[in-house]
Amino acid sequence: MTDHIIVEQPSAHPGVQLIRFNRPEKKNAITRAMYRTMADALKAADADPAIRAIAFLGTEGCFSSGNDLNDFLAAAVGGGGLEQEILDFLYALVKAEKPVVSGVDGLAIGIGSTIHLHCDLTIASSRSQFRTPFVDLALVPEAGSSLVAPRLMGHQRAFAMLAAGEAFSAAEAKEAGLIWKVVEPGEVDAMTLTTAARLAAKPPQALRIARDLVRGDRDEIIARIDEEAGHFSARLKSAEARAAFEAFMRR
Ligand code: COA
Repeated sequence: MTDHIIVEQPSAHPGVQLIRFNRPEKKNAITRAMYRTMADALKAADADPAIRAIAFLGTEGCFSSGNDLNDFLAAAVGGGGLEQEILDFLYALVKAEKPVVSGVDGLAIGIGSTIHLHCDLTIASSRSQFRTPFVDLALVPEAGSSLVAPRLMGHQRAFAMLAAGEAFSAAEAKEAGLIWKVVEPGEVDAMTLTTAARLAAKPPQALRIARDLVRGDRDEIIARIDEEAGHFSARLKSAEARAAFEAFMRR
């Protein structure tokens, strides 16, 4: 458990489990403890019939700056063990049995962007920016993004995002199919929770079948997550990745 993730069931939005990043002083960078808490929350939601939709939110101006680079640096210098927490979270997200809605206001970096590839509806404020600087950090795409993103947005936009590290505005992310709607910054939380509550009120069995049909084969995504993780692990320990993490710490 960590208070950097808030898990709650807002009374105004019945049937919704909210998972909120709450580490604004570090731009909601995600630590190992945060991954563990999110994985536990996703598994608990699957097991609880009273929860019928999940919502992810960040804080004002920031969804998440991605993985905590201190944890990456620790793994780079030999700490090890980091990847399992990330994998457990990704498996729980990809296998989630209830619909997942996400709301972004501002920064969405690294896994703060790729998480939405596994959400069913994403609402972002007009000032949001999506960016995955994997290669700039001497890393490779993760979260099954190398499989899902090209299918969703085509090779060129997926390459621009995942390999070239180009930033996507909210409008560009919508055009690429990464997100559903663009709203004003003050509207993200309410719209995300209302959308999740609307899904939570639908006949759950029909919604589950519809969602499974739309999402397709999850085993294929899990297999790609594992393939990416093999490269990612090796890259984390490379001299060029370590240099990139140290450069961030020194800046
Ligand atoms: N890991 C660890 N700490 C992070 C972080 C991350 N991913 N992102 C931000 N932080 C920390 C900063 O070190 C800083 O801490 P400090 O106040 O103790 O110095 C604090 O959060 C605020 O960040 P700062 O860089 O001062 O804010 P900014 O508005 O100038 O820039 C970002 C915000 C997100 C653009 C910038 O911090 C950044 O590029 N972060 C790294 C993003 C990244 O590469 N993520 C991994 C993707 S795989």
